[in-house]
Amino acid sequence: MKKVKIADGIHMLTMNVEDILFEGIWEIANGVTLNSYIVEGEKTAIIDGVIGWDGVPDTLYNSLKEMGVEPERIDYLIVNHMEPDHSGWISSFQKIKDDFTIVCTDKAAKMLGSFYGEDKIRVVKEGDTLDLGKGKVLSFHPVPNVHWPDTMYTYEMNSKTLFSCDMFGAFGRMGDHIFDDELTKEERDFFEEEGIRYYSNVMTTFTPSLRKAIDKAKELEVKIIAPGHGPVYRKDPQRIIDDYSRYSLYAEGAGKNEVTILWGSMYGMTAKAVAHAETILKREGVKYNKLEMPLESESLMVATVFKSAGIIIAAPTYEYKLFPPVAAALNELGRKKITGKQAFRFGSYGWSGGAEKELKEIMDRNRMNWDFVESVEFEGSPEEEDLKKVEAGILELLENIKDKTVE
Ligand SMILES: Cc1cc2nc3c(=O)[nH]c(=O)nc-3n(C[C@H](O)[C@H](O)[C@H](O)COP(=O)(O)O)c2cc1C
Ligand SMILES: [Fe+2]
Ligand SMILES: [Fe+2]
Repeated sequence: MKKVKIADGIHMLTMNVEDILFEGIWEIANGVTLNSYIVEGEKTAIIDGVIGWDGVPDTLYNSLKEMGVEPERIDYLIVNHMEPDHSGWISSFQKIKDDFTIVCTDKAAKMLGSFYGEDKIRVVKEGDTLDLGKGKVLSFHPVPNVHWPDTMYTYEMNSKTLFSCDMFGAFGRMGDHIFDDELTKEERDFFEEEGIRYYSNVMTTFTPSLRKAIDKAKELEVKIIAPGHGPVYRKDPQRIIDDYSRYSLYAEGAGKNEVTILWGSMYGMTAKAVAHAETILKREGVKYNKLEMPLESESLMVATVFKSAGIIIAAPTYEYKLFPPVAAALNELGRKKITGKQAFRFGSYGWSGGAEKELKEIMDRNRMNWDFVESVEFEGSPEEEDLKKVEAGILELLENIKDKTVE
């Protein structure tokens, strides 16, 4: 666990976690950090205490001791969010000390009862404050449905630090550079990609609530944003606020000036047209990504489609329906409420077709509202004429994404 000073009397404890499936689903190839914060006045508060995924809090306690904070001295546990990556250590904390107060929203209080049977709870509402002494005053600001109903911001009024929990977070392990002003260009690019992956995997379903949370962050005068995952923003906190605003647009059809080919092929017929599509995209100088299903991880698939303004779906008919790994990917995108994308589909069939019908069903069922140019279907191997239609479809798609790109 790393110990970092954020401001006078405010410290961060952060650890990298690797080799887990985040939320039990998302393969996080580049790890994730769990960040915890300690605020010391006359009284001491810990915000979003973290432990290893193994559930053993020893690392946290040892780190606190090394910082000169005896765990027994902690008076307040601020639970911004009940998800166990932030609160999983409370029950073991109870074993070393029992006179502490948990501070959380009413919704978290209900869950705390069911998770830990805890009764020393102070429920806070919008604008409530907690004076720790020595000029350290915390205020609390519920931000429901980011991404659980219980979530809140904690704000330290003196240093103007926003402890934003999951909001403004990113996947990705951190090295020695913790603050935005320390990050190299490569590290900034890395956290942009990992931020998009985090937003699209974990947060995007709740985009309308995230927008409210963005507004709330803007209402507070914020000098430092200290999230539960990823770097701390002290030089330019507005930047991560703007990034999150941009991601919220990606959820609803905007995207980077990129095309993603989401494809699958059993015997290479559809694949021939994919190769042709690549030739066209290269000729047009368009950046594109290829996701062959089912070989790609769910995490990367969702993130890559999410950030792209244009989507090409290339998949054949399989048992009267859409090639299942591509259908599964689209269903996942639908569950995540990734709506309004500009899209184009082509694919091969053998006798009846049926892929197209299922594609429409998936779009309708999930109310995805993707805007498709006319699909191209061909029997068996694509002929010259089919490839021309594929080219025309791509050119129309490229036209359609022009006013959808937000970098
Ligand atoms: C298991 C399987 C199921 C198929 N089901 C259908 C079908 O229901 N209707 C149809 O028109 N073609 C069906 N086909 C034929 C494929 O759509 C056709 O072979 C197509 O060219 C495959 O394209 P690909 O090589 O890109 O996978 C099926 C093929 C396989 C192997
Ligand atoms: Fe969470
Ligand atoms: Fe989290």
